[in-house]
Amino acid sequence: MGIFDGLKRDKTTEETIASNENEEEKQLENRETPEEPEDFSELDAENAEITEREVNHVIQEVEPRKIKSFSEKKPVKHTIGQTKVLAIINQKGGVGKSTTAINLAAALGDMKKQVLLIDLDPQGNSSSGLGIEKNQVNHCVYDVLLNGVLIEEVIIPDVCDGLDLIPATINLAGAEVELVSEMARENRLKDAVGSLRGKYDYIFIDCPPSLGLLTVNALVAADKLLIPIQCEFYALEGVTKLLDSMKRVKNILNPRLDIFGVLLTMYDSRTTLSRQVSDEVRGYFGKGVFKTIIPRSVKLSEAPSFGQPITEYDPSGKGAQSYIDLAKEVVSRG
Ligand SMILES: Nc1ncnc2c1ncn2[C@@H]1O[C@H](COP(=O)(O)OP(=O)(O)OP(=O)(O)O)[C@@H](O)[C@H]1O
Ligand SMILES: [Mg+2]
Repeated sequence: MGIFDGLKRDKTTEETIASNENEEEKQLENRETPEEPEDFSELDAENAEITEREVNHVIQEVEPRKIKSFSEKKPVKHTIGQTKVLAIINQKGGVGKSTTAINLAAALGDMKKQVLLIDLDPQGNSSSGLGIEKNQVNHCVYDVLLNGVLIEEVIIPDVCDGLDLIPATINLAGAEVELVSEMARENRLKDAVGSLRGKYDYIFIDCPPSLGLLTVNALVAADKLLIPIQCEFYALEGVTKLLDSMKRVKNILNPRLDIFGVLLTMYDSRTTLSRQVSDEVRGYFGKGVFKTIIPRSVKLSEAPSFGQPITEYDPSGKGAQSYIDLAKEVVSRG
């Protein structure tokens, strides 16, 4: 093959493109009737409104939430029993961990439970999704893990009814590396969270999409795991690896660690794929799978950009209802 063959091929391609363009122009001229508009009648009303809301969503200015210190926290009116520490975990990205962390925590808060959400992901999606911007906070969970700051000092109380937050900032991205050289590096979060037992009904940890040291800290600190699984291709991909990590931590560092529940997320009832994935996951985990399924919903994906949980952003929609149902199921699992 000669060195100019590439150029020749480029020329041929140019000619082909030009002749295709002429062909397309001719076809456009000859077209008499416009294409039939797509039939959206199958789509539910919520999803069909997407374009209109996308525009509003860009225009809307989100007001950041007011930040109080822990000493200003509203007094808790009920007696708190045994605190449950649940890590929301799946090293696969984008499966609905943060969406579940925010909305389940808020739904439990609405049910008069005392809930703390720890954002353990440097992306900080649980923090921004609750209207707490990184530039508003001085300390984050990083300072607890690596700077010896007391955990109470980083808690932002009453972000929503019954819900407190420990935010993440970009500083946390360094923790993965900095923890490596520290003593008792896997136990940092457990030790910090230990002092909060008895102060909350539920403590949720929103994990990053990896099996690094931050996730190991969550596995050591947690009583149980809540595993969201997206109803998509390769849903169970990586789950074996996650279960292996769980077993290793259980054998060495946290003997009582177990699965609390597996949650099917982004379920689309119009597709057979969602049903197949749901059957496959139920076949694999059996009764471990929550009865409640989180549907795919545009409002659930919009709510974080307004800094609101779904129970505030669209309280009467199917997304809010699904997380309220999940909260009830979580309570009934004890
Ligand atoms: N039920 C749902 N319906 C529609 N969109 C959803 C739903 N759940 C989550 N999403 C959207 O899917 C994307 C991923 O969700 P989310 O951030 O909760 O996943 P994640 O597992 O926390 O991701 P990461 O691994 O990056 O932390 C987000 O844009 C979110 O708004
Ligand atoms: Mg997340």
